[in-house]
Amino acid sequence: MNTPATTLNMALFPLPYRVVWWLVFAVLSMPLAWLVNLGLNDGLGANPIEFINRFLGDWALRMILVSLAATPLKILFGWRWPVRVRRMLGLWAFTYVALHITNYVVVDNFFAWDDIWKDIVKRNFITVGMVAFTIITSLAATSWNGAIKRMGSKSWRRLHKLVYVAAALGSLHYIWMVKADLLLPLVHSTILAVLLAIRVYAHITRPA
Ligand code: HEM
Repeated sequence: MNTPATTLNMALFPLPYRVVWWLVFAVLSMPLAWLVNLGLNDGLGANPIEFINRFLGDWALRMILVSLAATPLKILFGWRWPVRVRRMLGLWAFTYVALHITNYVVVDNFFAWDDIWKDIVKRNFITVGMVAFTIITSLAATSWNGAIKRMGSKSWRRLHKLVYVAAALGSLHYIWMVKADLLLPLVHSTILAVLLAIRVYAHITRPA
C-alpha cells in the first residue's frame, strides 16, 4: 500500500512529515545544546578551548556519517523518511563543521591569519580538514532547489557525490590528528566504508 504524501513510512508509527522533520531536527541539535549546557555549568574541563574544538570536530564527522546513512537505510530497510529529511541532515553536518572551524579560527587562534595559514600548509591533518570543509561548504551552498534547477540535476548529483570525499578526508583528518589511540578514528572510518559499500553493492546489483 502506498504511503500518503504527507506522512512518512516509519513502519509502526506513520507520522506526519512535519513531525518527523522536527523530531529529527531536535535530536540533531542535542549535542549542541549539551555543549552549551556544559559551558554554562563549568563542565568544559581544564582546557575548554580544546574540549570545545574536539567536541565539535567529533560531532561534525558524526553528522556527516548520519547524513550519509539516509540512502543505505532506504536500501536495507525500505525506509524513505531519512531520505526526505536528508537536506536538513546535511545542513546540520555543515553547521557542526562550521562551528568547529569558527572555534579554531576565532577562539583558538583569535584571527591570527598568518599562524592559521602556516597550520593549513604545514600540518597535514589541517590541510585535509580544509579541503573537506571547502567541499562541505560548496555542498551546503548548493543545497537549495534553485541551485538544482540552475546546475541541472545531473551535474548537481555529481557535485553532491563529493560528500563521500569530504567524509573520507574528515576521517583522515581525525586519524592523522590522533597520534596514539586510533580506535575511535578507525570506528568512524569503518562506518563510512560500510555505508559506501552498501551503496556500491546496491548500484552493482541494480537490475539493468
Ligand atoms: C569536514 C571537516 C572537518 C571535520 C569532519 C573535522 C573533524 C575533526 C575531528 C573528528 C577531530 C578530532 C576530535 C577528537 O579528538 O575527539 C578534529 C580535531 C581538530 N580539527 Fe577538525 N575537522 C574538520 C575540519 C577542520 C579544519 C578545516 C580545521 C582547521 C582549519 C580543523 C582543525 C582541527 C583542530 C585544530 C583539531 C584539534 C587538534 C588538537 O586538539 O590537537 N578541522 N576535527
